[in-house]
Amino acid sequence: MGAQTWDPQQYRQNAGFVAFYGASVLDLLGDVSGQRILDLGCGDGVLTASLVEKGASVLGVDSSPEMIGDAIARGLEASVMDATAVSFDEEFDAVFSNAVLHWIRDHEAVLAGVHQALKPGGRFIGEFGGHGNIAAVRTALLAGIAFQGIDIKDRYYHNFPTDSAFRSRLESNGFTVDSIEIIHRQTPLPEGVRGWYVTFAKAPLAGLSETQVEAAISYAEDLLRPSLCDGSGVWSADYVRLRFVAHRS
Ligand code: BEZ
Repeated sequence: MGAQTWDPQQYRQNAGFVAFYGASVLDLLGDVSGQRILDLGCGDGVLTASLVEKGASVLGVDSSPEMIGDAIARGLEASVMDATAVSFDEEFDAVFSNAVLHWIRDHEAVLAGVHQALKPGGRFIGEFGGHGNIAAVRTALLAGIAFQGIDIKDRYYHNFPTDSAFRSRLESNGFTVDSIEIIHRQTPLPEGVRGWYVTFAKAPLAGLSETQVEAAISYAEDLLRPSLCDGSGVWSADYVRLRFVAHRS
């Protein structure tokens, strides 16, 4: 399976909505003035910068050197780090994570690192894709790949747990869950589903020729148009979010 890679300019153009929706997750942190916060999977740092503006001292970490380059260029404290290899010792009042955990297979490793990074009682607040997320968008692209006779087995990986599965995982890793919910949120896509695929579907399209990529995306667009594109040509995606507020027990 190919890996997802990130192009900050493409991300800015096609994925501004991620930070837009993430702002309401960030609000769950409340007053952060004077707090030390870890932004886990900070990307280009748009939300990290909001936390700094609210008076927090924030470290942003992300596995993408390109995205961290953008965050540093914004003047943020940021470094390249894999979310499964976070190694801090009781340094943070809160860990915040938006639209990241669905990329990661090993949630156990993430939760162990976050737990150790938090001061006792520190909060872990975040949102990512929950069970059923992008079911149509993902299936249509796989259909567009399979239609060309290309094997789709193991081509697309995401970790979209149910709320009860993620609650158990949090609890077995030493967290108390204050709230956890699944939110169905049809999400407008400014650059259509094509822009979404170009930005977020690098892994499943890895190894295909330009012609095959174009054929897969066109096929998916045709399948999805009746249900995800409205009468005025505005596309949306079938997002399902898993939003949680927890603290270190
Ligand atoms: C999401 O934000 O839900 C998401 C984005 C890209 C790929 C998979 C899920």
